[in-house]
Amino acid sequence: MMAPAAVALGFELRVLAEAPDVSAVAAVAQAPVGDYRDLDTLRAFARGVDVLTFDHEHVPNEHLLTLIAEGVNVQPRPAALINAQDKLVMRAAIERLGLPNPAWAAVASVAEITAFGDVHGWPVVLKMPRGGYDGKGVKILASEADAVAAADWFEAMSPLLVEEMVTFSRELSALVARTPGGEARAWPVAESIQVDGVCDEVIAPAPGIPAEVAEQAQAAALRIASELGVTGVMAAELFQTPGRAPGYLINELAMRPHNTGHWTMDGAVTSQFEQHLRAVLDLPLGATDALGAIVVMKNFLGGANQDLFSAYTAALASEPTVKVHNYGKSVRPGRKIGHVNVIGSKNDDVARVRARATTVANIIRDGHQLDGQ
Ligand SMILES: Nc1ncnc2c1ncn2[C@@H]1O[C@H](COP(=O)(O)OP(=O)(O)O)[C@@H](O)[C@H]1O
Ligand SMILES: [Mg+2]
Repeated sequence: MMAPAAVALGFELRVLAEAPDVSAVAAVAQAPVGDYRDLDTLRAFARGVDVLTFDHEHVPNEHLLTLIAEGVNVQPRPAALINAQDKLVMRAAIERLGLPNPAWAAVASVAEITAFGDVHGWPVVLKMPRGGYDGKGVKILASEADAVAAADWFEAMSPLLVEEMVTFSRELSALVARTPGGEARAWPVAESIQVDGVCDEVIAPAPGIPAEVAEQAQAAALRIASELGVTGVMAAELFQTPGRAPGYLINELAMRPHNTGHWTMDGAVTSQFEQHLRAVLDLPLGATDALGAIVVMKNFLGGANQDLFSAYTAALASEPTVKVHNYGKSVRPGRKIGHVNVIGSKNDDVARVRARATTVANIIRDGHQLDGQ
């Protein structure tokens, strides 16, 4: 999804693809296939590039340090990136900055989980500090018995992160971008709706968000980016907590274009993908204003319809204002395979705009046909 922005700006984009069938291979002229965990593969790939950046956070930090020592311009730097790779490091950094964390602890045994639950209340949320995504690596433990049943997680990783189960009104995303030179910009704070730990829908700006919560969340994200030395796009995932000061808590950080920022592709002056390229290249950043009073992004996951194009006639006819982004991935149940964006005006009802996005996303997912076709 960075490719259109690279083409528009005339940048040559190269992608190290995990496999020949990943979306980037179809979208980018130079997409050699290789293992991002292999130092020699990374070395060969990085030869001659102006800047090396990421669309996931799983490239080993020690390899990045080696590449930097060999003269590669890696953005963001590993010292920043570690806060998106390791949730324990992130929790400690947020605490150091005096920003609002849920109660949390590093735990190395079932007994330590139980002790935490007894102090902070059950249920608790157990997390793999590294390697999780889309709710994989997150487990809600209702009781000590659940903690005992989760003991095998320590075989994969120890210590683990345990957090209080936060009571929140909704989830928010504060999306920002920062250049190595220190210029930074923030998009409007968005609401993100998760289903089973997976981002389902994003509404920007977050409808009805108190101005002081939006301002503080945005300021916190900009401060994190600046103090941790983040470059490129960073999303701070937040919980909105009415009645509990300061009105939000930080859930986690991502340092790359993020699902909660896909709305910017059609709904903001500068998309997060263009902004990421500008930022890591240390170019001036683009304006982050929304292009409408309300922008809705709705993901579609793999469902009944195996041939997405078979639904296009019905989907595209149903809502001409909706923009479809199909990732070209094979369809598997529950896998994120695309999203739609729609921009509403100030006279539009939020529920109506959401319904337009959902209609199109569901037709593509389910493969409904128009009558007579
Ligand atoms: N401490 C918590 N309290 C309540 N819900 C949580 C907590 N931590 C995570 N969740 C829920 O689980 C989802 C996934 O957790 P997260 O840490 O963001 O993992 P991932 O890396 O998979 O996105 C969150 O978006 C939120 O809905
Ligand atoms: Mg998350």
